[in-house]
Amino acid sequence: MKVSVVKNYDEMSKLAADIIASQIVIKPNAVLGLATGSTPVGTYQKLIEKYEKGELDFSKVSSVNLDEYVGLSPENEQSYRYFMNDNLFNHINIDKDNTHVLSGLEPDAEKECKSYDDLIDCYENIDIQVLGIGRNGHIGFNEPSTAFKAGTHCVELTEETIADNTRFFDSVEEVPTKAYTMGMKGIMKAKKIILLANGENKADAIKKAIYGPITPEVPASILQLHNDVVVIVDEDAGKYL
Ligand code: GLP
Repeated sequence: MKVSVVKNYDEMSKLAADIIASQIVIKPNAVLGLATGSTPVGTYQKLIEKYEKGELDFSKVSSVNLDEYVGLSPENEQSYRYFMNDNLFNHINIDKDNTHVLSGLEPDAEKECKSYDDLIDCYENIDIQVLGIGRNGHIGFNEPSTAFKAGTHCVELTEETIADNTRFFDSVEEVPTKAYTMGMKGIMKAKKIILLANGENKADAIKKAIYGPITPEVPASILQLHNDVVVIVDEDAGKYL
């Protein structure tokens, strides 16, 4: 793992965007694995700025997102499809047909997860996977558990995750309790992974992910087995490193 502790959120976002931009320049049809949450928003803003300056062309880029809440439609402002459109896709020249987010409205979990795994296989490899991290060490919505799950699957969100994500909803009752998430195989198959974290509340999860034992109780710890991970954290999230 290559670990960069940078001064603040802006520096973290700049470094991440520069890596993603370099990938698109050398491979215009790059496949990006994208994440939601507040952490990557700054990275997406920097990518939009590069596009607006004429430095980046997304016309041949494809994307595969990590996860989606079960029960939310793409039009729901809290859905991850809406988030991606709003924070990135609506502002760049990516072909929306080439952007993929799990369907939260598909009631047949097995069908939805299988077709997402087929899609990931179809792309062969994600070139760069962007990851945030939950306070409990989750990546995507792979929550702490007794075993790592390989394929895309439906997950019951933990109370901690529901509580953390309540800030995006009007009340805790509105937060979905289930999500579809890419599993560890999809994530670990990416050629390169960028793990981002900012803020003191992520410091413990980052320390355990990088230096702790590889255990499904800290899902992000599996990244220690990948041979090309760049961890970019601000000074607060990196305070134990
Ligand atoms: C959600 C997402 C994760 C994300 C995490 C952290 O649970 N499924 O992909 O990494 O939140 O969110 P934030 O970046 O807002 O702290």
